[in-house]
Amino acid sequence: MNSQGMMKRPRLQMAGVAKHFTLHNQNGAELPVLDRVDLDIGSGECVVLEGPSGMGKSTLLKLIHANYRASAGSIRVQPSQGPAVEVTTAGPRELVQLRRGTIGYVSQFLRVIPRVPALDVVAEPLAEDAGDDPAELEAARQKARRWMIRLRIPERLWHLPPATFSGGEQQRINIARNMIKPKPLLLLDEPTASLDAANARTVIELILEAAARGTAIAGIFHDRQTCAAVATRRVDVAGFRSRP
Ligand SMILES: Nc1ncnc2c1ncn2[C@@H]1O[C@H](COP(=O)(O)OP(=O)(O)OP(=O)(O)O)[C@@H](O)[C@H]1O
Ligand SMILES: [Mg+2]
Repeated sequence: MNSQGMMKRPRLQMAGVAKHFTLHNQNGAELPVLDRVDLDIGSGECVVLEGPSGMGKSTLLKLIHANYRASAGSIRVQPSQGPAVEVTTAGPRELVQLRRGTIGYVSQFLRVIPRVPALDVVAEPLAEDAGDDPAELEAARQKARRWMIRLRIPERLWHLPPATFSGGEQQRINIARNMIKPKPLLLLDEPTASLDAANARTVIELILEAAARGTAIAGIFHDRQTCAAVATRRVDVAGFRSRP
């Protein structure tokens, strides 16, 4: 509550959100996936999305990140400054801005950027903001090195493109790249799925640090241990399934 007794607005507000897919290879048949999604996430919360495979957990995160467009409803994201953004109707430039400054998204797999060395892949979100300032560019690379060390990426790999890295190495590059720049809303799709125990523990620490800084988090995790370590609330996506 603030001094006027008003609730602080949540970082993410989803109301009446639905998603169905149109299957063009099946004569345009409709596949209903999510319906009546009402979900608010506040600063410092880590909401774990649960439910069996194929329920629509990843789809829900992709709707927030606007990889998929909602079929109905409202998704509002509050940046650190300025008015809330309605993701369902935002234009391409607005979405680029939102992803750059407000929404972090660790997808299940790294989309490999050809021929860019791993260190630059990780530093890029900070380097973008640094522009042409050499000191800031070096600071971005220095910060990227610290993330690589913390996530146990061997130094011999830093100057190679991640295309040939192992699944777990690519996943750690993906995590570093998408968490290096603190953003107010963080979406995590099974970030620890291909990691060994030590790296999974590190990622849990990184998530807890982000939440402690006030980041609002929505996450999907494949194992109970990670859920138990990070969840401040659990939401069963089966409750959002389309009903015939
Ligand atoms: N682009 C798409 N086109 C058509 N159907 C899709 C598309 N994306 C997802 N779906 C369907 O939506 C449903 C939900 O998929 P989603 O990936 O969200 O599930 P999930 O809960 O994340 O499952 P898992 O735990 O296996 O990752 C599935 O039936 C899937 O086939
Ligand atoms: Mg999924």
